Amino acid sequence: MNSVPPASTNASANSTMNLSTGGDLKALASHYNSQGELKLGLSSTPLLKMIDGYERPFYLYDLKGLRARAKIYAQHTRSAKSFFAIKANANREILKVLREEGLGCDVVSGGELEVALNAGFKADEIVFSGVGKTLAEVKLAFQKGIHQINAESVPELVRLQKVASSQPAGAQMRVALRYNPDVNVHTHKYISTGLKENKFGMADEELSEALALFQNGQLPNLTFVGLSMHLGSQILDVSSVRDGVKRLVQKSVELRSQFSTVDIIDIGGGIGIDYRSDSYQAELTLLKIYEDILTTEIPSSFKAEAEPGRILVARSGVLISQVQYIKIRNDRTFVVLDAGMNHLMRPALYQAVHRVLPLQKRSSSVRRYDIVGPICESTDVFARDFEMSEVVEGDFVALMDAGAYGRSMSSGYNQHHLPEEKFLAD
Ligand SMILES: Cc1ncc(COP(=O)(O)O)c(C=O)c1O
Repeated sequence: MNSVPPASTNASANSTMNLSTGGDLKALASHYNSQGELKLGLSSTPLLKMIDGYERPFYLYDLKGLRARAKIYAQHTRSAKSFFAIKANANREILKVLREEGLGCDVVSGGELEVALNAGFKADEIVFSGVGKTLAEVKLAFQKGIHQINAESVPELVRLQKVASSQPAGAQMRVALRYNPDVNVHTHKYISTGLKENKFGMADEELSEALALFQNGQLPNLTFVGLSMHLGSQILDVSSVRDGVKRLVQKSVELRSQFSTVDIIDIGGGIGIDYRSDSYQAELTLLKIYEDILTTEIPSSFKAEAEPGRILVARSGVLISQVQYIKIRNDRTFVVLDAGMNHLMRPALYQAVHRVLPLQKRSSSVRRYDIVGPICESTDVFARDFEMSEVVEGDFVALMDAGAYGRSMSSGYNQHHLPEEKFLAD
C-alpha cells in the first residue's frame, strides 16, 4: 500500500531554477545538516523523522525533488517529446508528477500499459516498447489506441498486422521499427542493448526485411512512422550515444525518401547518474551533451522522441533499512541489514553500486564495512569495503539513489513482504 503523498509542490520547485550553472541540481543533492541528520535536496525533513512506527524496509520518495528534476530534464530536452520509461518506477504518485510535467509513458508490458492508463496518461501519450509483446498485449494496445508501438522484429510486425486486421475497419497503428545499430555504449553488459549480440531491435538485414513488408503493402494497417533505438542503460559515455544517433539519423533520412510517413526519430533512454557520489556535475554534463545531440544531430524536419527512466527518478528515492547485526570476522566487518536483494536487486543483478548512509551520523569516525542483506544468497551484498561513518545495531540507513529500478524490480523472495512506498512530507 502506498501512503498518501504531500500536496503538489510545483511552485517551490520552480523557484529554484538556475539551469546554466546546475545550481538547482546541486540544491537537490543529499546532504547532512549541522545535527548530522541526512536530508534529501529541497526537503526540510530529516529522513530520520520518517521512521516512526518502522516495521520493515520501505522506499521513501522526494516528490518535490522529482518535480524539480523533471523540469531540469525538460529544459535540456525541449526539442524532443519524452516518454517516461515506466519500468524504472511505476509508483502512481511518481507517474502523476511526471505526467503533470508533460511527459508521456514508455511501457514494455500490458501490465505497464494498464498502470499508465490508470495513472491518467492518455492512450495517445503512450509508446509500447519491448522485445516479446504477447498477442494479448498487442490486442490491448490496439483496443486502447496508443500513440506508437516500437516493433522489434519481423514476426512482431506480422502479429501486429494480424491483430490490426481483426479490429474494427480502418484500425491503424503508428509503428516505429527499433533499430539495433551495433554501438557499444560501455555500460554493464547486462544493461547494454544496442549491440548485435543483444536480443533487442533489428540489425540491418532484418530491418531491410521489415521495410520490404511495408513496401510490398503487406502491412496495410500499420503506419511506418520511423526508427527507434535504445542503446542501453546507465550510460555515462554519451559520445557513443552520439554515434548511435548519427547512425539512426542517417538511416531515417534515407528511409524518408522511400516512406513519406516517416516523421519520428526515437533515441530511447539511457542517461546515467554517478551512483558513487551525490555530485550533480556528471548529470548536468550528460544532460548538456544530450541536449546538444538532440539539437545538432536530429534534423528539425523530424520529431524527436526520447524514453528517459533513471535520470528522472533515481535520485528521488531511497530505500530505508535498519541495521540488524554487526558481524565481525577476521579482517571483515559485516553490517547485516533487514533490506536485501529482494528489496533492491540492482547490486546483485549487475554489480551496481549504491551509497549507504546512516540517517543520523554518530561521529565523524569512518569505518570500512561489507554491507549485506538477510537473503540466503551470496550475491545479497550491497557494498564491499564501503567506507561510512560508524553504525551500530538498530541504526537506520538509506540506500541512496534507489528511485529507479528499485521498487519496480523488488520481489517477495524468501517470502519477505514487498517494500512499502512513502513520501517525504515536504
Ligand atoms: C526500450 C527502453 N527505453 C527506455 C529505457 C529507459 O532507460 P533508462 O532508465 O536507462 O533511461 C529502457 C530501459 O531499459 C528501455 O528498455
